[in-house]
Amino acid sequence: LIEAVNAREILDSRGNPTVEVEVLLDDGIVQRAAVPSGASTGAFEAYELRDGDKSRYGGKGVLKAVAAVVDELGPAIEGVDASEQRIIDEILIETDGTDNKQRTGANAILGVSLAVAKAAADSADLPLFRYLGGPNAHVLPIPLFNVINGGEHADNGIDCQEFFLAPIGASSFAEALRWGAETYHVLRGELKAAGYATGLGDEGGFAPDLPSNREGLDFLVQAIEKAGFTAGSDIALGLDVAATEFFKNGAYHFEGKDWTAEALTDYYVDLVDSYPIVTIEDALAEDDWDAWKHLTDVLGTKTQLVGDDLFVTNPQRLADGIARGVANSLLVKVNQIGTLSETLDAVELAHRSGYTTMFSHRSGETEDTTIADLVVAVNSGQIKSGAPARSERVAKYNQLLRIEDELGDAAEFIGRAAFPRYKG
Ligand code: PGA
Ligand code: ZN
Repeated sequence: LIEAVNAREILDSRGNPTVEVEVLLDDGIVQRAAVPSGASTGAFEAYELRDGDKSRYGGKGVLKAVAAVVDELGPAIEGVDASEQRIIDEILIETDGTDNKQRTGANAILGVSLAVAKAAADSADLPLFRYLGGPNAHVLPIPLFNVINGGEHADNGIDCQEFFLAPIGASSFAEALRWGAETYHVLRGELKAAGYATGLGDEGGFAPDLPSNREGLDFLVQAIEKAGFTAGSDIALGLDVAATEFFKNGAYHFEGKDWTAEALTDYYVDLVDSYPIVTIEDALAEDDWDAWKHLTDVLGTKTQLVGDDLFVTNPQRLADGIARGVANSLLVKVNQIGTLSETLDAVELAHRSGYTTMFSHRSGETEDTTIADLVVAVNSGQIKSGAPARSERVAKYNQLLRIEDELGDAAEFIGRAAFPRYKG
């Protein structure tokens, strides 16, 4: 039974405050969870409550969310069995009482929801992935390493937010991680040799001032080959365009020009023909549904089309998208929706509908590794947690190494099969 819930303000990887929650059970178990925070957030995400008091952290303090946990959300679930996750999440949603969790804050609610799950797992003496996923949780995900950062995550001129290395030819998660790290180091050397800065963006990738997005893909291919791998069969590529960020007044402001959705779609078709791209996320803006449908008709059989700002891990928005035949993959971010149960609902709906899922960190992260356990719990097969560098990114990858060890022979790394539409 839940005996007490505590919360505090801690710092995330960008030096901004975020919420940490601690749950104490009557058997003496204590577990904590910390909440991540995005920069290129979708308009339809659950509400992140910040104090707005300019005298602290530039208004970004989270003392109101902390107080909501201590004064309201915690007391509402005291005495409840911690293994009743769905009931607890229901109570949290009802205690907040608003549609998008804006009164107590999705950051407050999520911290409680995740800490409860971790405490329940510990109390059952099970690793979190096993507690949540049961005996069949066994698939280690392909890591998608964001090794070049642009958009809102870096101060360079690159419009695409994320350039991924996807080690689809590796035979285990540990090998995929090694391939990614080796290529990351070669990429640094290649950028440096070409005269580019090798400073890092928010997700640990390099943030060079490249003249075009194609140049970024060229550098990835070059680094993969120079590291001794084959671009495509060993390590494929991916993009998170985060197109909502450069969609203004009906036009896409991309590479110094105004594009229609159709022109941008043609550009993507060209990219997929020219590079071994397995996945493109948020290729179009979060409300450009008709254009999304066209994009899916044109590219959906060749490439994974991931909805992030488009779906915001919201089962209702996802159901809408599925009904319209839009995209074919769901990006999963626990803080976009605010409870574990709703996150799992979205994942289940995606899988039932033939959509793949990719679990995701946020650009503002902490040392919390819950998403590493979640991605294995549901056998998703894909995770993005930034570059293979910087501890808040690597913490998730390191946790996956532990899970792979723990599973031993039962662990399965499905490699390229994680991208059923990729024929490269
Ligand atoms: P965010 O970016 O965490 O800043 O929203 C991640 C993403 O767009 O996938
Ligand atoms: Zn995204």
